[in-house]
Amino acid sequence: MGPLGTFLFVLPSLGVHLPPSQPLQHQKCTRLRSRAPSQQQPPQQLSQQQQQQQQGRGLCIGVVGGSGFVGQHLLEALQAIKEGRREEGAGLRVGEVRAYVRSEEAAEKVRRFGAEACAMDEPLDGVDVVIHLAANVALTDEQGWSAFESPAVNLTRHLLEAAEKAGVQRFIYASSTLVFLDARSRWLAKRYRNISEGSPYPRRPLNFYAKSKQMAERMVLGASDSNMTRIVLRPPIVWGPNDTSLLRVWNMTVSSGRHTWAGQGRYLKSTCYVSNVVEGLLKACVNGRSGQAYHVTDGNPVEWREFFTAVMSAIGWDLDALPSSLYKDGKAPNLPRWRSALRLLRRGTQMEVIRHVLEGPFTVDDSVSRKELGYEGRVHVHEGVRRLREWALAGKAT
Ligand SMILES: *[C@@H]1O[C@H](CO)[C@@H](O)[C@H](O)[C@H]1NC(C)=O
Ligand SMILES: *[C@@H]1O[C@H](CO)[C@@H](O)[C@H](O)[C@H]1NC(C)=O
Ligand SMILES: *[C@@H]1O[C@H](CO)[C@@H](O)[C@H](O)[C@H]1NC(C)=O
Ligand SMILES: *[C@@H]1O[C@H](CO)[C@@H](O)[C@H](O)[C@H]1NC(C)=O
Ligand SMILES: *[C@@H]1O[C@H](CO)[C@@H](O)[C@H](O)[C@H]1NC(C)=O
Repeated sequence: MGPLGTFLFVLPSLGVHLPPSQPLQHQKCTRLRSRAPSQQQPPQQLSQQQQQQQQGRGLCIGVVGGSGFVGQHLLEALQAIKEGRREEGAGLRVGEVRAYVRSEEAAEKVRRFGAEACAMDEPLDGVDVVIHLAANVALTDEQGWSAFESPAVNLTRHLLEAAEKAGVQRFIYASSTLVFLDARSRWLAKRYRNISEGSPYPRRPLNFYAKSKQMAERMVLGASDSNMTRIVLRPPIVWGPNDTSLLRVWNMTVSSGRHTWAGQGRYLKSTCYVSNVVEGLLKACVNGRSGQAYHVTDGNPVEWREFFTAVMSAIGWDLDALPSSLYKDGKAPNLPRWRSALRLLRRGTQMEVIRHVLEGPFTVDDSVSRKELGYEGRVHVHEGVRRLREWALAGKAT
């Protein structure tokens, strides 16, 4: 169940998390427009945005977490819209893209996509829409709570305050449907089917990642006295080219011979191809109600075994030919859930326990975002797999 920027589960040992290296200098981001906060509040925030769009200047979008997996795809799309190479249905016009980053390394990445790099503590003056994607995406808790609290809770609090102060009209937070996973799933044999936005949070979230996302969501959605339109976007498993986290974990699991099919992989999962996540974020720049979370997916859920086999095949693995695919059709031991859970408790690492919880049906209802955001999920799973294969092949060629 991946998150955006977020959505990717990373084993800390893979070293995917970049510690802030050289802090970004403050010389950037000098083109702050002086836009005195209007004394008279327009009747509706949306209409103010529309006015600005009609006046032709387009929106100024401030992206936080733009150097990550989803972030880079988002910046690429924003740049294309800004240059008139892409239409985004909802009538989104982009005038300026600022990416708020922590390190010179991240700044370099976002500049490749035409964004203006700003230091994280730079004010948000002049920004119309904030898209907050920053997160620690580790799946295990080994880094300790503060490693998750800092980006999800403290940074979100800071951004909400800064955005309110700067008169930002819209605040979009990228979360994950992982917030719904109960740490006790493996005991309760909980089933996750067609989860809607209004489902209650579990009392015990799966891990620190899910807990931090829950807390950030509550902050974003809870500020009811705010004049800012606040939206949470929740994709399930996020996948696609350039992913260096979830895909890397899957790749490692397979290449090290540790891949097995629990329940033979015969259960349904909802997924969200990275471009579809981006589509949801872009639609939320214009559409959507304040205080609402929206689910986005690839459409119909996929059978996990079929999906995972296709994705692995795109990056060069033939799962059926691997000796490590221990549980072939019809031969799986198919332990009752409680027995496999007991087995894990005895000798499972935390990663194994989490993997066990993630294995099993998990489907999400995205009808509300289709209706209210105008979300379509334009990239079908087959097309996503094709693009993934293209990317993997191009990588091998170089
Ligand atoms: C994906 O990675 C390739 C290099 O492998 C790079 O050229 C491209 O700009 C990246 N695209 C995105 C959206 O991250
Ligand atoms: C987050 O903010 C709280 C309250 O201000 C503070 O106690 C805590 O140390 C901060 N955590 C991190 C990781 O910065
Ligand atoms: C999922 O739930 C929605 C209502 O929340 C319902 O309209 C839809 O038919 C359900 N879909 C499935 C596949 O059960
Ligand atoms: C929201 O706008 C109203 C009317 O302009 C203003 O009185 C109020 O202080 C604003 N609230 C916040 C939290 O900025
Ligand atoms: C998967 O892992 C192999 C090494 O086992 C590596 O050569 C390959 O580039 C990886 N593929 C991706 C898409 O990360």
